[in-house]
Amino acid sequence: MSGNWINIINIEDIPEDDVIGVNIDGHHIALYRAENEVFATDNVCTHGHALLSDGFLEDGEIECPLHQGRFCIKSGKAMSEPLTEDIKTYPTRMEGEQVFLKLS
Ligand code: FES
Repeated sequence: MSGNWINIINIEDIPEDDVIGVNIDGHHIALYRAENEVFATDNVCTHGHALLSDGFLEDGEIECPLHQGRFCIKSGKAMSEPLTEDIKTYPTRMEGEQVFLKLS
Protein backbone atom coordinates (compact mmCIF):
# COMPACT_ATOMS: atom_id res chain seq x y z
CA MET A 1 0.00 0.00 0.00
CA SER A 2 1.16 3.52 -0.64
CA GLY A 3 2.02 5.27 2.56
CA ASN A 4 3.89 2.28 3.91
CA TRP A 5 7.64 1.89 3.92
CA ILE A 6 8.56 -0.84 1.45
CA ASN A 7 11.83 -2.74 1.71
CA ILE A 8 13.03 -2.55 -1.87
CA ILE A 9 16.69 -3.44 -2.14
CA ASN A 10 20.06 -3.88 -0.46
CA ILE A 11 22.18 -0.80 -1.07
CA GLU A 12 25.00 -3.05 -2.30
CA ASP A 13 22.80 -4.00 -5.26
CA ILE A 14 23.04 -0.43 -6.57
CA PRO A 15 26.43 0.39 -8.08
CA GLU A 16 28.17 3.29 -6.31
CA ASP A 17 27.47 6.71 -7.83
CA ASP A 18 25.10 5.17 -10.30
CA VAL A 19 21.43 4.69 -11.04
CA ILE A 20 19.23 1.66 -11.63
CA GLY A 21 15.60 1.29 -12.62
CA VAL A 22 13.20 -0.83 -10.56
CA ASN A 23 9.51 -1.59 -10.75
CA ILE A 24 7.67 -1.26 -7.46
CA ASP A 25 3.98 -2.08 -7.48
CA GLY A 26 3.80 -1.03 -11.14
CA HIS A 27 5.69 2.24 -10.61
CA HIS A 28 8.86 2.79 -12.62
CA ILE A 29 11.33 4.19 -10.12
CA ALA A 30 14.92 5.30 -10.57
CA LEU A 31 17.16 4.60 -7.58
CA TYR A 32 20.34 6.61 -7.21
CA ARG A 33 23.23 5.73 -4.94
CA ALA A 34 25.28 8.77 -4.06
CA GLU A 35 27.64 9.12 -1.11
CA ASN A 36 26.19 5.95 0.43
CA GLU A 37 22.72 7.40 0.46
CA VAL A 38 19.88 6.32 -1.80
CA PHE A 39 17.50 8.71 -3.53
CA ALA A 40 14.46 7.84 -5.60
CA THR A 41 12.53 9.57 -8.39
CA ASP A 42 10.13 8.55 -11.10
CA ASN A 43 12.13 6.84 -13.82
CA VAL A 44 10.32 8.30 -16.84
CA CYS A 45 11.50 11.78 -17.82
CA THR A 46 8.88 14.55 -17.63
CA HIS A 47 9.91 15.79 -21.08
CA GLY A 48 9.62 12.70 -23.26
CA HIS A 49 9.64 8.97 -23.12
CA ALA A 50 13.09 8.22 -21.82
CA LEU A 51 14.26 6.33 -18.76
CA LEU A 52 16.47 8.26 -16.40
CA SER A 53 18.07 4.98 -15.34
CA ASP A 54 19.65 4.98 -18.83
CA GLY A 55 21.07 8.41 -18.10
CA PHE A 56 24.19 9.71 -16.47
CA LEU A 57 24.48 10.56 -12.75
CA GLU A 58 26.91 13.30 -11.78
CA ASP A 59 27.14 15.76 -8.86
CA GLY A 60 23.69 14.94 -7.54
CA GLU A 61 22.01 15.40 -10.90
CA ILE A 62 20.70 12.87 -13.39
CA GLU A 63 21.07 13.67 -17.06
CA CYS A 64 18.33 12.32 -19.30
CA PRO A 65 19.75 10.17 -22.11
CA LEU A 66 17.42 11.63 -24.76
CA HIS A 67 17.87 15.43 -24.70
CA GLN A 68 20.31 15.80 -21.80
CA GLY A 69 17.88 17.60 -19.47
CA ARG A 70 19.07 17.41 -15.85
CA PHE A 71 17.10 16.86 -12.64
CA CYS A 72 18.30 17.22 -9.05
CA ILE A 73 18.01 13.71 -7.60
CA LYS A 74 17.20 15.04 -4.10
CA SER A 75 14.50 17.60 -4.91
CA GLY A 76 13.41 16.38 -8.35
CA LYS A 77 13.82 19.93 -9.59
CA ALA A 78 14.30 20.43 -13.33
CA MET A 79 17.73 22.05 -13.58
CA SER A 80 18.21 22.64 -17.30
CA GLU A 81 16.55 22.93 -20.68
CA PRO A 82 14.59 21.45 -22.30
CA LEU A 83 12.89 20.40 -19.05
CA THR A 84 9.95 22.47 -17.84
CA GLU A 85 8.47 20.10 -15.29
CA ASP A 86 10.05 18.76 -12.10
CA ILE A 87 10.09 15.03 -11.47
CA LYS A 88 8.40 13.28 -8.56
CA THR A 89 10.67 12.14 -5.76
CA TYR A 90 10.05 9.46 -3.14
CA PRO A 91 11.27 9.39 0.45
CA THR A 92 13.81 6.71 1.28
CA ARG A 93 15.43 5.54 4.46
CA MET A 94 18.06 3.00 5.40
CA GLU A 95 18.06 0.24 7.99
CA GLY A 96 21.55 -1.16 7.92
CA GLU A 97 22.07 -2.03 4.27
CA GLN A 98 18.36 -2.30 3.52
CA VAL A 99 16.72 0.50 1.60
CA PHE A 100 13.08 1.39 2.28
CA LEU A 101 10.91 3.61 0.11
CA LYS A 102 7.50 5.20 0.50
CA LEU A 103 5.41 5.36 -2.67
CA SER A 104 2.88 7.96 -1.53
S1 FES B 1 13.09 13.10 -22.81
FE1 FES B 1 14.28 13.68 -21.11
S2 FES B 1 15.12 15.59 -21.71
FE2 FES B 1 13.82 15.05 -23.38
